[in-house]
Amino acid sequence: MAAEALFQPWSFKGLNLRNRLVMAPMTRSFSPDGVVTEEVAQYYRRRAAGEVGLIITEGTGVDRAASLNDRNVPRFHGEKELAGWKRVADEVHAEGGAIAPQLWHVGAVRSRDPEWKPEGGYDSPSGLSSPGKKFGEGMSEEAVADAIDAFARAAADAKRLGFETVELHGAHGYLIDQFFWDGTNEREDAYGSKDLPGRARFAGDILRAVRKAVGPDYPVIIRISQWKQQDFTVKMAPTPKALEAWLTALPDAGADILHCSQRCFWDPEFDGSDL
Ligand SMILES: Cc1cc2nc3c(=O)[nH]c(=O)nc-3n(C[C@H](O)[C@H](O)[C@H](O)COP(=O)(O)O)c2cc1C
Repeated sequence: MAAEALFQPWSFKGLNLRNRLVMAPMTRSFSPDGVVTEEVAQYYRRRAAGEVGLIITEGTGVDRAASLNDRNVPRFHGEKELAGWKRVADEVHAEGGAIAPQLWHVGAVRSRDPEWKPEGGYDSPSGLSSPGKKFGEGMSEEAVADAIDAFARAAADAKRLGFETVELHGAHGYLIDQFFWDGTNEREDAYGSKDLPGRARFAGDILRAVRKAVGPDYPVIIRISQWKQQDFTVKMAPTPKALEAWLTALPDAGADILHCSQRCFWDPEFDGSDL
């Protein structure tokens, strides 16, 4: 592929990128007590000054007590938190950049801080941090509904603050992915299923709620991965057909862009493929 293609502008639903280079979301843990600082705003501004087309921010927590497990990871709810994020977006725009917050709920992933305990306990589909490994309790239907709403509220806030688009973190074994993964989703209600498209219901409900909150003309991205931080070798969709059955549910529910995280981009996803 000719490298020049990367430097062509790209437009979609009002998201106007000066080139096709996108900065991957990267947790930096330098937002004390969950609030982004001036240092964080300048960090993102420097990337925009370097002319990256779109910045996807580090994962930032939605409004559930258990959405983060690190005091230095920024939240995306609350007055001072959102004021901080508006500052970040303004700084990036001053350099002609575009930016999306990556909306995150870590689910049942143990904190490095032994004192960390979210009020009301951890959120997860079935109280498992990885297959067979008990960690907290599975979410009630009420908690599931509240988590869905928390993503929708955060997306509405992102739009209101001037972010050009929003990304849902559906990858890497965090909450949304814990619902996708049969190893961590043993639910017997509508959010559990023997098949992967059935387990995409939670992501689908979030996408529908987000879409309702931001309207039809705002771009929505969801990040997905086969691999899990709990186990790099997991392949939930072993064939292109299974992958299609899983992923088709996501645009059907309102996703515009699928951000596929591979970890090892040089390995083809399926034998015999060059993709
Ligand atoms: C320091 C660091 C922090 C990261 N934090 C996040 C994060 O907050 N959200 C996320 O989706 N990925 C995160 N990642 C993963 C990267 O976005 C990316 O997925 C990884 O470098 C591999 O690239 P690929 O997924 O495109 O194959 C992080 C990576 C690094 C190196």
